[in-house]
Amino acid sequence: MKEIKVGLIGFGTVGSGTAEVLLEQAKNLEKKTGLKITLKTVADIVADALPEKFAGTILSKDANEIFTDPEIDIVVELIGGLEPARTFMLKAIEAGKHVVSANKALLSIHGREIFAAAAKKGVEVGFEASVGGGIPVIKSLKEGLAANNILSIMGIMNGTANYILSQMTDYGLPFDEVLKDAQEKGYAEADPTYDVEGIDTAHKLVILMMMAYGINIGLEDVSTEGISQIKPVDISFAKKFGYRLKLLAISKNHGDHVEARVHPTMVPDDHMLASINGAYNGIHFKGDMVGNVLLYGMGAGKMPTGSAVAADIVDIARNIANGSVGRVPALSYLPEMIKDCSITPMESLRCPYYFRISALDKTGVLATIAGILGKNDISIESVIQKDRQDTGAVPIVIRTHEAEEKAVQAAIAEIDSLDICVEKTVKIRILE
Ligand code: HSE
Repeated sequence: MKEIKVGLIGFGTVGSGTAEVLLEQAKNLEKKTGLKITLKTVADIVADALPEKFAGTILSKDANEIFTDPEIDIVVELIGGLEPARTFMLKAIEAGKHVVSANKALLSIHGREIFAAAAKKGVEVGFEASVGGGIPVIKSLKEGLAANNILSIMGIMNGTANYILSQMTDYGLPFDEVLKDAQEKGYAEADPTYDVEGIDTAHKLVILMMMAYGINIGLEDVSTEGISQIKPVDISFAKKFGYRLKLLAISKNHGDHVEARVHPTMVPDDHMLASINGAYNGIHFKGDMVGNVLLYGMGAGKMPTGSAVAADIVDIARNIANGSVGRVPALSYLPEMIKDCSITPMESLRCPYYFRISALDKTGVLATIAGILGKNDISIESVIQKDRQDTGAVPIVIRTHEAEEKAVQAAIAEIDSLDICVEKTVKIRILE
């Protein structure tokens, strides 16, 4: 039986999960591929020993041992971060190895360099685990949806943020309290910035947009807002209006320009994405031939992510064995077909909005606010004014009809400059 040898850099959560998947599924994979896939070497600067079940695998502190080993066919990078991950990927490619990575930050920032180097060298780049954890989203886009123009991408792509919002919604708890609890339980990182500020979701959206539309796009093209400023009161008003609050990645393909944004969004209760809760992810594509497709599953975790990394290894192993390396281009489109594309300015976005204005409870306040909105061509759909707070302020909650982002920003700036406003207005976009 032909043997394919793998070198793995990084034996953390996903690295050890990948090793376990390869070991546990070895017989199953032999039956499916006719190949023996062997984890020959693990490089990790921290680990002093591998668990006994990996007795046949070499442990090294030096990743160069993997790049210089002529027996190794596939190098798996699972250390995360930009450096030395970028250098390791490029060294592996230069050495003629196929590469696999789960590193969405790296691919969304240095992807162009890595994909170009791999194409030049004629090796494959697998990155199934970079988006949606265990959900086969990359393969679906590249192969299952190949015969479509993708019209839109919309999804919940960060398990940590979705878990926090779900807990806030179900138990009425404040953000800080839920985050602390999630960190104690090991669901959230010690530094949760990337997850809660939408940056991790933006990394994933960049990868999907490159593949879905065949365009060059960078992280700087994605308008990104996170969930750290969300208050239980906004979640509670959202419920009253019939919405669930989600951190969504949204991209629409307008042909000559594309939308790219990540922000908290009020999702109607009867929308499929509203029922994706806890640490789960859900990614929705609209194709011009297939219509709507929703992929759902565990967006993070040792074994689900290990399963996705192993799927890439299997794909590449099959291509090596069948002499079909490069059968599917890494980014779905042929490299020479990938074009620059303009990004729709955020200011021209049109959608319904939720505002929570904190104003003093005085005669004429509502009329003044309504006047500012009217002047900016923002039409009110409904208003709730709650009881006066200890501060003497009242929350005035407004749901608008579809309005333009630029006009909304101008109106809020004017409202917030009024003496009667005691706090900055909260604005949340509503999904139609
Ligand atoms: N930090 C990510 C999340 C997991 O919380 O979804 C891997 O992408």
